[in-house]
This record gives sequence, C-alpha cells and structure tokens, in this order.
Amino acid sequence: MLPTIEEALNELKIAEHLNPGPWVKHSMNTGVAARNIAEKVPGLNSEKAYIVGLMHDIGRRAGITDIPTHVYDGYKYCMEKLEDI
Ligand SMILES: [Fe+2]
Repeated sequence: MLPTIEEALNELKIAEHLNPGPWVKHSMNTGVAARNIAEKVPGLNSEKAYIVGLMHDIGRRAGITDIPTHVYDGYKYCMEKLEDI
C-alpha cells in the first residue's frame, strides 16, 4: 500500500532530520519529474508516480551508504511500515 502524498512528504521530513543532505531535494525533484512524466503517459497515475518518486531514496534515512545498501535499507524500511498497517 502506498502512503498518501502527505504521508510521503512527512516521511521525507523525518528522514531529512535523521540524515540531512541534498538527497532530500533530489527526492522531491524526482517526485515532481515522475508526476510530470506520468501526466503525459496514458494509463499512468501521476499521484502514485509523485509518491514513489518522493520515496525512491527513503533508505538514505539510515545514513550515507553505497547504492545497493540504501536500496536495501529502503526496502527493509518500507516492509517494516507495511507490518505496521
Ligand atoms: Fe535517487
């Protein structure tokens, strides 16, 4: 289940507090880009694209790591959030 836009923005805010850095602005830009692309592609949901763009680097909340590690950290974090639902 995807978070709402408000929840995704709140997750980024929490993550930025845990690990400040340019990755947060990058995530926001990615969300906007994904939304803009989805608006032009029939069949895509621009709201969902925005949310997944916002959240795509959420594993960086745990700190600066290499690419495979932050991807895996993000996966683990999202799976933990699912268990809370
Ligand atoms: Fe990224």
